[in-house]
Amino acid sequence: MVSGAMGMRSRHPKAFALRCNPASHRSLTLVLWSLAALVIVVNFLLLIIHKEGESISTHEIRRSIMRELEVVEEEQFKVAPLRSRRNPRAVRRKGDKKPPSIVDEFLDESSAVHDMFFPEQKTAVDPNNGGNDTLHFYYPGNVWLDTDGKPIQAHGGGVLYDKRTKTYFWYGENKDGKTYKAHTKGADRVDIIGVSCYSSSDLWAWKNEGVVLRGEENNVTHDLYKSNVLERPKVIYNDRTGKYVMWMHIDDANYTKASIGVAVSDSPTGPFTYLYSKRPHDCESRDMSVFKDDDGKAYLIYSSEDNSELHIGQLTDDYLDVTSVMRRLLIAQHREAPALFKHEATYYMITSGCTGWAPNMALAHAATSILDPWETLGNPCVGGNDIFRSTTFFSQSTFVLPLPGLPGSFIFMADRWNPSDLRDSRYVWLPLTVGGVPDEAADYSFMFPLWSRVSIYWHKQWRLPEGWRDS
Ligand SMILES: *[C@@H]1O[C@H](CO)[C@@H](O)[C@H](O)[C@H]1NC(C)=O
Ligand SMILES: *[C@@H]1O[C@H](CO)[C@@H](O)[C@H](O)[C@H]1NC(C)=O
Ligand SMILES: *[C@@H]1O[C@H](CO)[C@@H](O)[C@H](O)[C@H]1NC(C)=O
Repeated sequence: MVSGAMGMRSRHPKAFALRCNPASHRSLTLVLWSLAALVIVVNFLLLIIHKEGESISTHEIRRSIMRELEVVEEEQFKVAPLRSRRNPRAVRRKGDKKPPSIVDEFLDESSAVHDMFFPEQKTAVDPNNGGNDTLHFYYPGNVWLDTDGKPIQAHGGGVLYDKRTKTYFWYGENKDGKTYKAHTKGADRVDIIGVSCYSSSDLWAWKNEGVVLRGEENNVTHDLYKSNVLERPKVIYNDRTGKYVMWMHIDDANYTKASIGVAVSDSPTGPFTYLYSKRPHDCESRDMSVFKDDDGKAYLIYSSEDNSELHIGQLTDDYLDVTSVMRRLLIAQHREAPALFKHEATYYMITSGCTGWAPNMALAHAATSILDPWETLGNPCVGGNDIFRSTTFFSQSTFVLPLPGLPGSFIFMADRWNPSDLRDSRYVWLPLTVGGVPDEAADYSFMFPLWSRVSIYWHKQWRLPEGWRDS
């Protein structure tokens, strides 16, 4: 069949050529070849034009999608008359004649400023009973309910995308207990309940998967004994071992143990088996996170040396321990709450200052290689007002989640801590984008800054744009 068809085709030119004389045959061949070449060139050009048109229009779509998120929303609130009722926390500061700052008021449960930032509304994001189901708005700072209608308990958390189940898992501290002080000079705390896990396919409606790593009720020598501290749990999946590995900050009530803890599970929804705690690289480790790179290597990043600097170290292949590879960064800058992410081969990180439960100004940092020196880019917060921008919108970073369908766009996840009732701490999720010129371009190469600006945009209400999922 194939050879017969070939024969048919090759016979036609012959029959055509027979009717022509040799000279015109040659020029005809030339014309035919030229025509063929022209067709090829035109097709090629059309292809390029088409491709460009396509990329322009995708770019245009992305721009218009992002424009919604990058609207700079100003916030106004009157500062002066807000001081109300008694102000025990602020008054207690002996010898301090200065009026309380807005942050003092924010932390004081009896003030109107506090009420403003911890509104009662539970209806805002209610996947069960609400008219807002189809719109899927986020309301940073409002009570966020799970699919059972209960407030989500996943503080200091992080999100894992599980490719096997195509599901997002949000892990965080369950702080659904009484807030108290272990002793007069101690920090406000809640006993360890454990690490909660919630699952979602749309990043908006979250189903409670329960406590996947439990605190210890009775064993006083156990790291997870209830009067100790378990903070900032993060889970990464190990492709080699097929295990889900959880890293967390383990401490005693006075924060003198300053260690990391590791737990492991075969399933994203646990139960996780607690393995051990230690000081990584024999160094203090408090606020921490783990980051899994595209090449499968994973890293631990932690506040060390009395929280004065950060350390970043590579994990072993099974993610169950650190290797000896470690670098010190942002030395003497006193940063904590690190949240690492990557865009176009550049590593970025958001950190906070160290002021306990009180909010402070975030900073963005960047590095071209994760173990290289990191540069500080400035305050990423955009919109709101000066007070919002100097307090990370009254919250503290915990994680940055990439939106796979929109490269350069992320969700910034933060905690609005409520030290008078830690279980009522709120979540502040906002869009984060990478692009444009940074405010403090630390490094220039031929007049061009090496880094892009990291921007976190304030919104009272917002939602994920179309196309945020991978296509
Ligand atoms: C829906 O959202 C609006 C804000 O846009 C809010 O005023 C309203 O209370 C919400 N309704 C419910 C039932 O969640
Ligand atoms: C209590 O915890 C310690 C430390 O993890 C462990 O060695 C010990 O076996 C535990 N005791 C009981 C009774 O489970
Ligand atoms: C924490 O410090 C207080 C006061 O210094 C002390 O009484 C208490 O025993 C310490 N607790 C732990 C667990 O170290």
